[in-house]
Amino acid sequence: MTQDLASDIAPDRPAPLTNSRKVFIKTYGCQMNVYDSGRMADALAADGYVSTEVMEDADLVLLNTCHIREKAADKVYSALGRLRETKKARAAEGREFMIGVAGCVAQAEGEEISRREPAVDVVIGPQTYHRLPQALQRARTGERVVDTEYALEDKFEHLPDPVKTAGKPRNVTAFLTVQEGCDKFCTFCVVPYTRGSEVSRPLDQIVAEAEKLVANGVRELTLLGQNVNAWHGTAADGSALGLGDLLYRLAEIEGLARLRYTTSHPRDMDDVLVEAHRKLDKLMPYLHLPVQAGSDRILKAMNRRHKAEEYIRLIERIRAARPDIALSGDFIVGFPGETDEDFEATLDLVRRVRYAQAYSFKYSTRPGTPGADLKDQVAEEVKTERLARLQALLLEQQHEFAESCVGKVIDLLLEKPGRMPGQLIGRSPWLQSVNVDAKTSQIGDIIKVRITSTGPNSLFAEVAES
Ligand code: SAH
Ligand code: SF4
Ligand code: F3S
Repeated sequence: MTQDLASDIAPDRPAPLTNSRKVFIKTYGCQMNVYDSGRMADALAADGYVSTEVMEDADLVLLNTCHIREKAADKVYSALGRLRETKKARAAEGREFMIGVAGCVAQAEGEEISRREPAVDVVIGPQTYHRLPQALQRARTGERVVDTEYALEDKFEHLPDPVKTAGKPRNVTAFLTVQEGCDKFCTFCVVPYTRGSEVSRPLDQIVAEAEKLVANGVRELTLLGQNVNAWHGTAADGSALGLGDLLYRLAEIEGLARLRYTTSHPRDMDDVLVEAHRKLDKLMPYLHLPVQAGSDRILKAMNRRHKAEEYIRLIERIRAARPDIALSGDFIVGFPGETDEDFEATLDLVRRVRYAQAYSFKYSTRPGTPGADLKDQVAEEVKTERLARLQALLLEQQHEFAESCVGKVIDLLLEKPGRMPGQLIGRSPWLQSVNVDAKTSQIGDIIKVRITSTGPNSLFAEVAES
């Protein structure tokens, strides 16, 4: 139903409840939130909601939020302010407009959100979103719902299949959450508080979800977890399994061509996992392995529980197993107490590792984390200057890596239509976007292409003779 029709038919009372309500989901934060947004859309689809990409068309706007840095949470509150105005306008038209807040800000702030922004109808946590339809129903009776208790039941057991409900086939690439939460308690980080303690999904549940995704056309799976390599499970014979074993099991799925996993902690890179990079062809040569800093003093203050040299040695072992691996990392500059010398150690580490890709951030004080109570907070100008220097170095390495691909013949997984007609965008083994001339009917195929040139955010290629 369009907006005009709704106001024509029922100018002074709520629009009739039909089974074609529309939901617009805005996702902030990490890949896990991307996955959760998909699963929330599934849960809502089973309740009669159709997803829309157009906010103005929606009857429900759901913000799936991130709490990792200060700016992330600020963005949510300013978005809510705008939605409050939309809600007022809709109320004048007599049309339902609901606002939901999900994700890590919902978990961390709970009731505070409805207090600060009374227009919010539902606040729902990352572990309770399978109850979203019931929460919305309660909200319709006038209740302001806050459901952020860690649920006793496993949400995955209560969610509809990830592949059937949306009414359209999923992409050729998909995320699959295998592990949630974190027990590492790095002193800067809110994740252990917003996502709770580490939980691994059982092997059978993961395999079943992977098989469904593959049956629906997915060729490349990225396993997700805040600490994905802390995943552990149990085999049928009772023996203990780690992420490496899970990858071997998933690689057996016929039709599945590629596997990846993210995000890993250096402490949990065990031998089986490192060896999987040597032995498993389906495991792509790309690894996101955050180190945060290069100074042992800062690493200790961050509670990362490893030294810089141990990280470098680990990288050497991984490169020995898979020489063409592309490395990616996360960095924080300006952690409390970071001196110029400490920062130089980060630059040194980056020069030694050589990253193909990286993310870097200014330290952001998070309430409730041990880092917030530390003295010696670094001045904003110093953080800004350090971030600029680090990013210049990382960008240089990123360009070097992209340039080194020119002339190579690679396997390209054709993923989606490109910007120009007759063009598709594919994914390289090193997680780069590659533009190539190909037909839409080829989406899902893996073809040989030769990289011809580099662009700012992607590569260009031509089809190579097989
Ligand atoms: N589990 C992952 C990281 C998850 S958070 C790991 O351990 O590596 C993603 C990234 O956000 C972190 O790697 C870190 O670089 C950054 N980050 C987390 N908390 C931050 C904070 N308080 N300030 C700035 N950056 C932060
Ligand atoms: Fe946060 Fe550290 Fe856990 Fe990563 S390992 S999610 S940075 S506490
Ligand atoms: Fe943000 Fe939560 Fe992910 S805080 S980074 S959305 S786990």
